[in-house]
Amino acid sequence: MTTSKPDATANDATTTQKQTPLLEIQNVKAGYGHAQILNGVSLKLEPRQIVTVVGPNGAGKSTLMKAIFGLLRITEGKVILEGKNITNTPPEQLVSLGMAYVPQINNVFPTLTVLENLLMGAYTRRDNFQGRIEEIFTLFPDLRASRSRPAGQLSGGQRNTLAMARALMLDTRVLLLDEPTAGLAPKVTLAVWERIQNIRDSGVAILVVEQNTRMALERSDYGYVLVTGRNRFDGPGSELLASKEVADLYLGR
Ligand SMILES: Nc1ncnc2c1ncn2[C@@H]1O[C@H](COP(=O)(O)OP(=O)(O)OP(=O)(O)O)[C@@H](O)[C@H]1O
Ligand SMILES: [Mg+2]
Repeated sequence: MTTSKPDATANDATTTQKQTPLLEIQNVKAGYGHAQILNGVSLKLEPRQIVTVVGPNGAGKSTLMKAIFGLLRITEGKVILEGKNITNTPPEQLVSLGMAYVPQINNVFPTLTVLENLLMGAYTRRDNFQGRIEEIFTLFPDLRASRSRPAGQLSGGQRNTLAMARALMLDTRVLLLDEPTAGLAPKVTLAVWERIQNIRDSGVAILVVEQNTRMALERSDYGYVLVTGRNRFDGPGSELLASKEVADLYLGR
Protein backbone atom coordinates (compact mmCIF):
# COMPACT_ATOMS: atom_id res chain seq x y z
CA MET A 1 0.00 0.00 0.00
CA THR A 2 1.21 3.50 -0.77
CA THR A 3 0.51 6.43 1.49
CA SER A 4 0.43 9.78 -0.22
CA LYS A 5 1.50 12.73 1.87
CA PRO A 6 -1.11 15.49 1.78
CA ASP A 7 1.25 17.67 -0.22
CA ALA A 8 2.27 14.95 -2.67
CA THR A 9 1.60 15.83 -6.29
CA ALA A 10 1.89 13.98 -9.57
CA ASN A 11 3.88 11.23 -7.92
CA ASP A 12 3.35 8.99 -10.91
CA ALA A 13 3.96 11.49 -13.63
CA THR A 14 7.71 11.15 -13.64
CA THR A 15 7.92 7.42 -12.98
CA THR A 16 9.20 5.41 -15.91
CA GLN A 17 6.48 3.02 -17.05
CA LYS A 18 7.20 -0.46 -18.35
CA GLN A 19 3.93 -0.46 -20.21
CA THR A 20 1.43 2.26 -21.09
CA PRO A 21 -1.66 1.98 -18.88
CA LEU A 22 -5.06 1.93 -20.57
CA LEU A 23 -6.10 5.07 -18.69
CA GLU A 24 -3.86 7.33 -16.68
CA ILE A 25 -4.82 10.39 -14.67
CA GLN A 26 -1.85 12.62 -13.89
CA ASN A 27 -2.09 15.25 -11.15
CA VAL A 28 -5.52 16.45 -12.26
CA LYS A 29 -6.87 19.70 -10.85
CA ALA A 30 -10.42 20.92 -11.47
CA GLY A 31 -13.34 22.58 -9.72
CA TYR A 32 -16.45 24.68 -10.02
CA GLY A 33 -15.87 28.38 -10.66
CA HIS A 34 -13.28 29.56 -8.17
CA ALA A 35 -13.71 26.53 -5.91
CA GLN A 36 -10.93 24.08 -6.75
CA ILE A 37 -12.13 20.62 -5.70
CA LEU A 38 -9.51 18.32 -7.25
CA ASN A 39 -6.12 19.39 -5.96
CA GLY A 40 -3.98 16.91 -7.86
CA VAL A 41 -5.33 13.40 -8.38
CA SER A 42 -3.34 10.65 -10.07
CA LEU A 43 -4.42 7.11 -10.86
CA LYS A 44 -4.01 4.30 -13.35
CA LEU A 45 -6.29 1.72 -14.90
CA GLU A 46 -4.91 -1.30 -16.73
CA PRO A 47 -6.87 -3.43 -19.24
CA ARG A 48 -9.37 -5.83 -17.61
CA GLN A 49 -8.97 -4.23 -14.22
CA ILE A 50 -11.55 -3.01 -11.74
CA VAL A 51 -10.12 0.03 -9.97
CA THR A 52 -12.16 1.58 -7.19
CA VAL A 53 -12.05 5.12 -5.84
CA VAL A 54 -13.33 5.54 -2.29
CA GLY A 55 -13.26 8.42 0.16
CA PRO A 56 -15.44 10.53 2.41
CA ASN A 57 -18.43 12.54 1.17
CA GLY A 58 -17.32 15.61 -0.70
CA ALA A 59 -13.83 14.23 -1.38
CA GLY A 60 -14.29 14.94 -5.08
CA LYS A 61 -14.99 11.43 -6.38
CA SER A 62 -17.89 12.41 -8.66
CA THR A 63 -16.00 15.54 -9.67
CA LEU A 64 -13.11 13.32 -10.78
CA MET A 65 -15.41 11.18 -12.93
CA LYS A 66 -16.94 14.27 -14.55
CA ALA A 67 -13.49 15.75 -15.19
CA ILE A 68 -12.25 12.53 -16.83
CA PHE A 69 -15.35 12.36 -19.02
CA GLY A 70 -15.00 15.94 -20.29
CA LEU A 71 -17.98 17.30 -18.36
CA LEU A 72 -15.88 19.60 -16.21
CA ARG A 73 -12.83 21.57 -17.29
CA ILE A 74 -9.47 20.29 -16.09
CA THR A 75 -7.26 23.27 -15.25
CA GLU A 76 -4.04 21.36 -14.67
CA GLY A 77 -2.81 17.82 -15.19
CA LYS A 78 -3.60 15.23 -17.84
CA VAL A 79 -5.92 12.40 -18.76
CA ILE A 80 -4.20 9.89 -21.02
CA LEU A 81 -5.95 7.06 -22.85
CA GLU A 82 -3.58 4.47 -24.33
CA GLY A 83 -0.80 7.03 -24.48
CA LYS A 84 -3.00 9.68 -26.14
CA ASN A 85 -3.65 12.93 -24.29
CA ILE A 86 -7.44 13.25 -24.02
CA THR A 87 -7.57 16.02 -21.40
CA ASN A 88 -10.76 18.09 -21.79
CA THR A 89 -11.98 16.06 -24.78
CA PRO A 90 -15.78 16.37 -25.16
CA PRO A 91 -17.84 13.35 -24.03
CA GLU A 92 -19.12 12.45 -27.50
CA GLN A 93 -15.54 12.11 -28.76
CA LEU A 94 -14.58 10.06 -25.72
CA VAL A 95 -17.46 7.69 -26.49
CA SER A 96 -16.08 7.16 -29.97
CA LEU A 97 -12.69 6.42 -28.38
CA GLY A 98 -14.26 3.64 -26.32
CA MET A 99 -15.06 5.37 -23.04
CA ALA A 100 -18.46 5.39 -21.34
CA TYR A 101 -19.75 7.01 -18.16
CA VAL A 102 -22.72 6.02 -16.02
CA PRO A 103 -23.76 8.76 -13.59
CA GLN A 104 -25.20 7.88 -10.22
CA ILE A 105 -28.74 9.08 -10.91
CA ASN A 106 -31.05 9.61 -13.88
CA ASN A 107 -29.08 7.04 -15.84
CA VAL A 108 -31.96 5.45 -17.81
CA PHE A 109 -34.93 6.78 -19.80
CA PRO A 110 -37.83 5.73 -17.54
CA THR A 111 -40.62 5.86 -20.12
CA LEU A 112 -38.70 3.82 -22.71
CA THR A 113 -38.59 0.04 -22.53
CA VAL A 114 -35.45 -1.87 -21.63
CA LEU A 115 -34.85 -2.69 -25.29
CA GLU A 116 -35.44 0.93 -26.36
CA ASN A 117 -32.95 2.09 -23.74
CA LEU A 118 -30.36 -0.29 -25.17
CA LEU A 119 -31.10 0.95 -28.69
CA MET A 120 -30.59 4.53 -27.50
CA GLY A 121 -27.13 3.47 -26.36
CA ALA A 122 -26.39 2.28 -29.88
CA TYR A 123 -27.73 5.21 -31.87
CA THR A 124 -24.30 6.14 -33.26
CA ARG A 125 -23.65 2.58 -34.42
CA ARG A 126 -23.90 2.15 -38.16
CA ASP A 127 -23.47 -1.60 -38.24
CA ASN A 128 -26.02 -4.22 -37.35
CA PHE A 129 -26.18 -4.06 -33.57
CA GLN A 130 -28.55 -7.01 -33.08
CA GLY A 131 -25.52 -9.14 -32.30
CA ARG A 132 -24.46 -6.74 -29.59
CA ILE A 133 -27.95 -6.78 -28.04
CA GLU A 134 -27.78 -10.57 -28.00
CA GLU A 135 -24.40 -10.42 -26.21
CA ILE A 136 -25.82 -7.95 -23.68
CA PHE A 137 -28.82 -10.21 -23.02
CA THR A 138 -26.46 -13.15 -22.52
CA LEU A 139 -24.40 -11.10 -20.06
CA PHE A 140 -27.53 -9.85 -18.22
CA PRO A 141 -30.30 -12.46 -18.58
CA ASP A 142 -32.78 -10.55 -16.42
CA LEU A 143 -32.72 -7.70 -18.94
CA ARG A 144 -33.78 -10.13 -21.64
CA ALA A 145 -36.71 -11.19 -19.48
CA SER A 146 -37.81 -7.58 -18.97
CA ARG A 147 -36.95 -6.29 -22.45
CA SER A 148 -40.48 -4.94 -23.07
CA ARG A 149 -40.98 -3.30 -19.68
CA PRO A 150 -40.59 0.45 -19.23
CA ALA A 151 -37.29 1.13 -17.44
CA GLY A 152 -39.17 3.21 -14.85
CA GLN A 153 -40.85 0.04 -13.62
CA LEU A 154 -37.58 -1.76 -12.91
CA SER A 155 -36.12 -2.17 -9.43
CA GLY A 156 -33.14 0.01 -8.48
CA GLY A 157 -30.67 -2.82 -9.10
CA GLN A 158 -32.18 -3.65 -12.49
CA ARG A 159 -32.13 0.02 -13.48
CA ASN A 160 -28.45 0.29 -12.64
CA THR A 161 -27.77 -2.92 -14.56
CA LEU A 162 -29.60 -1.43 -17.55
CA ALA A 163 -27.57 1.78 -17.28
CA MET A 164 -24.34 -0.25 -17.34
CA ALA A 165 -25.63 -2.41 -20.20
CA ARG A 166 -26.53 0.65 -22.25
CA ALA A 167 -23.01 2.00 -21.74
CA LEU A 168 -21.72 -1.23 -23.27
CA MET A 169 -23.75 -0.98 -26.49
CA LEU A 170 -20.83 0.70 -28.22
CA ASP A 171 -17.39 -0.85 -28.24
CA THR A 172 -16.61 0.31 -24.74
CA ARG A 173 -13.18 -0.47 -23.34
CA VAL A 174 -13.20 1.88 -20.35
CA LEU A 175 -16.32 2.15 -18.22
CA LEU A 176 -16.67 4.88 -15.59
CA LEU A 177 -19.27 4.07 -12.92
CA ASP A 178 -20.32 6.56 -10.24
CA GLU A 179 -21.80 4.75 -7.23
CA PRO A 180 -23.58 1.95 -9.07
CA THR A 181 -24.95 0.55 -5.80
CA ALA A 182 -26.07 3.75 -4.05
CA GLY A 183 -29.33 3.26 -2.19
CA LEU A 184 -29.55 -0.46 -2.97
CA ALA A 185 -30.17 -3.22 -0.41
CA PRO A 186 -27.08 -5.35 0.46
CA LYS A 187 -28.29 -8.35 -1.52
CA VAL A 188 -28.94 -6.23 -4.61
CA THR A 189 -25.58 -4.49 -4.12
CA LEU A 190 -23.93 -7.90 -4.27
CA ALA A 191 -25.82 -8.73 -7.47
CA VAL A 192 -24.74 -5.45 -9.09
CA TRP A 193 -21.12 -6.20 -8.14
CA GLU A 194 -21.42 -9.60 -9.77
CA ARG A 195 -22.52 -7.79 -12.94
CA ILE A 196 -19.55 -5.44 -12.67
CA GLN A 197 -17.23 -8.45 -12.43
CA ASN A 198 -18.95 -10.04 -15.44
CA ILE A 199 -18.38 -6.84 -17.42
CA ARG A 200 -14.70 -6.89 -16.45
CA ASP A 201 -14.44 -10.54 -17.46
CA SER A 202 -15.93 -9.64 -20.86
CA GLY A 203 -12.83 -7.47 -21.46
CA VAL A 204 -13.78 -4.01 -20.21
CA ALA A 205 -11.69 -2.01 -17.72
CA ILE A 206 -13.78 -0.33 -15.04
CA LEU A 207 -13.11 2.71 -12.89
CA VAL A 208 -15.75 2.81 -10.18
CA VAL A 209 -16.59 5.19 -7.35
CA GLU A 210 -18.15 3.37 -4.42
CA GLN A 211 -19.53 4.01 -0.96
CA ASN A 212 -19.94 0.32 -0.27
CA THR A 213 -16.22 0.32 0.25
CA ARG A 214 -15.70 -3.16 1.62
CA MET A 215 -17.65 -4.95 -1.07
CA ALA A 216 -15.95 -2.83 -3.71
CA LEU A 217 -12.37 -3.23 -2.48
CA GLU A 218 -12.81 -6.97 -1.99
CA ARG A 219 -13.70 -7.22 -5.68
CA SER A 220 -11.25 -4.66 -7.07
CA ASP A 221 -7.81 -5.18 -8.47
CA TYR A 222 -6.65 -1.88 -7.08
CA GLY A 223 -8.06 0.96 -4.99
CA TYR A 224 -7.46 4.63 -4.29
CA VAL A 225 -8.56 6.58 -1.22
CA LEU A 226 -9.27 10.18 -2.12
CA VAL A 227 -9.46 12.86 0.58
CA THR A 228 -10.12 16.57 -0.08
CA GLY A 229 -9.38 16.15 -3.76
CA ARG A 230 -6.02 14.41 -3.27
CA ASN A 231 -4.66 10.89 -3.27
CA ARG A 232 -4.34 9.70 0.31
CA PHE A 233 -3.69 5.94 0.03
CA ASP A 234 -3.59 3.45 -2.79
CA GLY A 235 -2.91 -0.24 -3.15
CA PRO A 236 -4.44 -3.59 -4.05
CA GLY A 237 -8.00 -3.73 -2.67
CA SER A 238 -7.11 -6.45 -0.18
CA GLU A 239 -4.18 -4.42 1.19
CA LEU A 240 -6.31 -1.33 1.69
CA LEU A 241 -8.91 -3.43 3.48
CA ALA A 242 -6.25 -4.95 5.71
CA SER A 243 -4.83 -1.57 6.72
CA LYS A 244 -6.10 -0.49 10.12
CA GLU A 245 -5.35 3.15 9.36
CA VAL A 246 -7.38 3.11 6.16
CA ALA A 247 -10.20 1.16 7.76
CA ASP A 248 -10.43 3.36 10.86
CA LEU A 249 -10.23 6.61 9.02
CA TYR A 250 -12.06 6.06 5.78
CA LEU A 251 -13.81 2.77 5.33
CA GLY A 252 -16.40 2.87 8.10
CA ARG A 253 -18.37 -0.24 8.93
N1 LIG B 1 -22.04 21.59 -9.52
C1 LIG B 1 -21.33 21.97 -8.44
N2 LIG B 1 -21.08 23.28 -8.19
C2 LIG B 1 -20.36 23.67 -7.12
N3 LIG B 1 -19.80 22.82 -6.22
C3 LIG B 1 -20.01 21.49 -6.42
C4 LIG B 1 -20.78 21.00 -7.53
N4 LIG B 1 -20.81 19.66 -7.46
C5 LIG B 1 -20.09 19.32 -6.36
N5 LIG B 1 -19.62 20.43 -5.73
C6 LIG B 1 -18.79 20.44 -4.53
O1 LIG B 1 -17.59 19.75 -4.81
C7 LIG B 1 -17.17 19.00 -3.69
C8 LIG B 1 -16.93 17.55 -4.10
O2 LIG B 1 -18.16 17.02 -4.56
P1 LIG B 1 -18.27 15.59 -5.21
O3 LIG B 1 -19.69 15.44 -5.64
O4 LIG B 1 -17.23 15.42 -6.23
O5 LIG B 1 -17.93 14.67 -3.96
P2 LIG B 1 -18.01 13.10 -3.80
O6 LIG B 1 -16.69 12.64 -3.33
O7 LIG B 1 -18.56 12.51 -5.04
O8 LIG B 1 -19.06 12.99 -2.60
P3 LIG B 1 -20.23 11.90 -2.33
O9 LIG B 1 -19.55 10.76 -1.65
O10 LIG B 1 -21.15 12.63 -1.41
O11 LIG B 1 -20.86 11.54 -3.64
C9 LIG B 1 -18.24 19.17 -2.62
O12 LIG B 1 -17.78 20.16 -1.71
C10 LIG B 1 -19.42 19.67 -3.39
O13 LIG B 1 -20.23 20.51 -2.60
MG1 LIG C 1 -20.31 11.49 -5.53
